[in-house]
Amino acid sequence: MLSRLSPYWLWVVLALPALPMIPQIISDPAAAKQLVHPTGEFAARFMIIAMLATPLMMLFRTRRWPRWLMHHRRHFGVAAFVYAALHLCFYLIKIGSLPAVLAEFGQFRIWTGWAAFAIFVPLAVTSNNLAQRLMRQKWKTLQRLTYGAAVLTFLHWAALKDWGGLAPALVHFTPVILLSAWRIWYWYLRPRPVRATA
Ligand code: HEM
Repeated sequence: MLSRLSPYWLWVVLALPALPMIPQIISDPAAAKQLVHPTGEFAARFMIIAMLATPLMMLFRTRRWPRWLMHHRRHFGVAAFVYAALHLCFYLIKIGSLPAVLAEFGQFRIWTGWAAFAIFVPLAVTSNNLAQRLMRQKWKTLQRLTYGAAVLTFLHWAALKDWGGLAPALVHFTPVILLSAWRIWYWYLRPRPVRATA
């Protein structure tokens, strides 16, 4: 059933969290203040889902749903970027002026967000078949920056409200942390059968 879902429907599903925000922001620009939260959360959630595709595929090789996720992970990555861009727009509307932006730029909880977003931009721009073909091996190297963006997003979230964001950040990132640890074990530490030498 999942594999028959058209990619257009997936875009609709990914856009659903943003739909109620449109009338809110049109009728009252002050609503931007409340919209910073959900857009940041959905950016992080979609990034996490995209990151889970490869390890889930390795763990559940025979199942269809990890293959579906693997095939569509680019959709989740692009959705993460779009929600992060909305998050940034609402933040800028909320804060209201360039001096105010610059005044808090140096704070750990803020520059980590900017740094994560700076990594998101080249990832989103190259998230297409043409870039993948043109860049060849460099494309894979660039994609690995996702891990840097994930660490920065985790720190950004955790450091909010005097590190009061740590618990929700941990809840969301635990699957990525566990599955990344499993991947490291699988590739580098897993006991392998010793080959007999002739
Ligand atoms: C572009 C630069 C960014 C800035 C200036 C920024 C700023 C902020 C601010 C001020 C908050 C606190 C909102 C509040 O308490 O009212 C916040 C929350 C958050 N941001 Fe960002 N952010 C940025 C990028 C990102 C990115 C790239 C992500 C994820 C991919 C992200 C994910 C989050 C999350 C998950 C929260 C917590 C939402 C909650 O309170 O539940 N942010 N951000």
